[in-house]
Amino acid sequence: MEIKKAIELRTSVRNFLPDMIPVEDLKEMVRLAACAPSVNNYQPWRFVAVTNKKVMDQMAEVIIGKISAIPSNESQVAQNVKSQVEWYATFFRNAPAVIAVSMDIYETILEKGVDLSHDDINRMRCYPDIQSAGAAIQNLLLAAVDMGYGACWMSAPMIAADEIVDILKIDKPYGLIAFVTVGKPAQPSKAREKKPVEEIFLLID
Ligand SMILES: Cc1cc2nc3c(=O)[nH]c(=O)nc-3n(C[C@H](O)[C@H](O)[C@H](O)COP(=O)(O)O)c2cc1C
Repeated sequence: MEIKKAIELRTSVRNFLPDMIPVEDLKEMVRLAACAPSVNNYQPWRFVAVTNKKVMDQMAEVIIGKISAIPSNESQVAQNVKSQVEWYATFFRNAPAVIAVSMDIYETILEKGVDLSHDDINRMRCYPDIQSAGAAIQNLLLAAVDMGYGACWMSAPMIAADEIVDILKIDKPYGLIAFVTVGKPAQPSKAREKKPVEEIFLLID
């Protein structure tokens, strides 16, 4: 598929057919994800593909537990918001695969020579580690489209990142940063409307 077409067709897919995804396809998506640029070519990412329903359910349950533990009043509005968030954080359990993206800490050479903390430098550089991982995730989404799948980038499950790293056996220094849920779309989906380029583009000539 032409790259422009994949970019335009991509949309977040949250309802999937039950068809399993061949492991070779999951691997190919991850290979293409990892073609992304990264700060100093550090390639901070690792990807764990989960197709095991029991593991998915286990992750969904810890996420639900975390969401229900968020302090809130007893109002119907609060209950509705929580159940909505719960669905958007756990629908991966109904997908054939969810890919957990984890990231290593990027230490710049600057950290060795100056009196600034890792966090200070990372903030000054506007989180190049997270930016790198975002590029890889976008590649993954586009690869999925190109291969006839639908996908959704998910950060809501990260509310239970500490518990999920134990379930998935992701060891330090890697930390979990996102899920990408993948599968064959249950129905044809239309890309969502985006702001016109005139509204978002400025040229300083
Ligand atoms: C960083 C990031 C985190 C997201 N987290 C979630 C999520 O936890 N759950 C979800 O259903 N969608 C999530 N999304 C998908 C967005 O809701 C979606 O991209 C947005 O509504 C635009 O729709 P589109 O992807 O179809 O263009 C996330 C997207 C991004 C980029």
